[in-house]
Amino acid sequence: YGEFNQKIDYVLKVVLIGDSAVGKSQLLARFARNEFSIDSKATIGVEFQTRTLAIDEKTIKAQIWDTAGQERYRAVTSAYYRGAVGAMLIYDITKRQSFDHVARWLEELRSHADRNIVIMLIGNKSDLGSLRAVPTEDAKEFAQRENLFFMETSALEATNVESAFQTVLTEIY
Ligand code: GTP
Ligand code: MG
Repeated sequence: YGEFNQKIDYVLKVVLIGDSAVGKSQLLARFARNEFSIDSKATIGVEFQTRTLAIDEKTIKAQIWDTAGQERYRAVTSAYYRGAVGAMLIYDITKRQSFDHVARWLEELRSHADRNIVIMLIGNKSDLGSLRAVPTEDAKEFAQRENLFFMETSALEATNVESAFQTVLTEIY
């Protein structure tokens, strides 16, 4: 994941949104640094990390923005979405409420972001299958209805993380 002295063809801003504790920061840690932390602290304000990768022979710098799911710690909404060309809307497959809130997040996203933004719905913590509270089918249907890409991921086990980001970046590009 080293960043070399290379010519960057595109810088693509992607934002992460979703309830607190669904795993936004750990998905980012997995994608950007191939790391994971069990005792991840709630995000305060905004953070971003970048990773440079090749897509269709172009060098893309993905700039992934992460903010707090908790309202009181959140960044200024309009600034957060400004310039974003991709979004990952994340819920926790073991927390029904985090899925029930997806519609609200989508509303905020659609009212602030560019109309052509590529959106991926992500059901994270797929490693906790025995605690599942959101059937895959429910999320799939929702995604289809709302025209979103959809994947279940595990930041812990590194399942589908690469694939989810790759899909969004490829679709943008
Ligand atoms: P806020 O910053 O408050 O909005 O939360 P967040 O969405 O960034 O959540 P965070 O990444 O901090 O993860 C919350 C908790 O879930 C931490 O204890 C993580 O270790 C755990 N977690 C994140 N991803 C996974 C996963 O894929 N599987 C499991 N089992 N736990 C996870
Ligand atoms: Mg966080």
